[in-house]
Amino acid sequence: MRHLIDPLDFTVEELDRLLRLGEDIRREPGAYSESCKGKKLATLFYEPSTRTRLSFEAAMLNLGGSVLGFPSANVSSVSKGESVADTIRIVSCYADIAAMRHPLEGAPMRAARFSRIPVINAGDGGHMHPTQTLADLATLQSRFGRITDLTVGLCGDLKFGFCGDLKYGRTVHSLVNALARYEGNEFVFISPEELRVPGHLIENVVKPAHIPYAEVTGLEEAMADLDILYMTRIQKERFTDAGEYERLKGSYVLDMPKMALGKADMAVLHPLPRVNEIA
Ligand code: NCD
Repeated sequence: MRHLIDPLDFTVEELDRLLRLGEDIRREPGAYSESCKGKKLATLFYEPSTRTRLSFEAAMLNLGGSVLGFPSANVSSVSKGESVADTIRIVSCYADIAAMRHPLEGAPMRAARFSRIPVINAGDGGHMHPTQTLADLATLQSRFGRITDLTVGLCGDLKFGFCGDLKYGRTVHSLVNALARYEGNEFVFISPEELRVPGHLIENVVKPAHIPYAEVTGLEEAMADLDILYMTRIQKERFTDAGEYERLKGSYVLDMPKMALGKADMAVLHPLPRVNEIA
């Protein structure tokens, strides 16, 4: 049985096959409308979500399956103190696959250890978000026709900037892991000093893959070089110090004057559009 906890759980070949399958489904939805007939997806969301939870549920319904689950921990037996392990043991009796979002890093991986059904990580704290990465890779592929040779940053034909909360931004962590396995990637990380990309990503992913990278704090000076800008939200729910969040929350606002500094065909990817970050 396979789980999807981290984007690296799939090989590059498997990811490519998955992206092609997604493209086929998008082209011929009717041909797949019975693919999951009789199957049930459990969405177990211990942390808030709109896009991710509803996209999982819509996808399963579009494939002929059905859905069950909870949108918040306080409407489940978690509020009675039930553990992740006990919850997934029970859900394994009701569903054929589960998608779990949890505030604690590693919770979906723990669930996978006790589960009798495949577990998909729909976001675990400030750690990983592999299915958002699948959506991002599909977007990149549809926009640029490829995901190899996405020269990220300093030189080459495509420049990719990651901007915002790179410390807690699980979508960035997942996407960097996935992109690092494709040829020709270099990265520009744009963040406040306090929210820099975690050192372990640089040491364990970027450097071993010999990927050139830069870390900067200003968005304006990086804009001119970017073909793709990946904007992330300052993750309020991860801060223990409310004052630090208040100080950092408006660090980057992508407005028309800043857009004018970039290339006319620059692509903006944003895993959670917020008015106060894309003005
Ligand atoms: C992202 C997440 O949950 O990490 N959102 C999402 O999956 N649609 C990014 C975010 O919440 O800012």
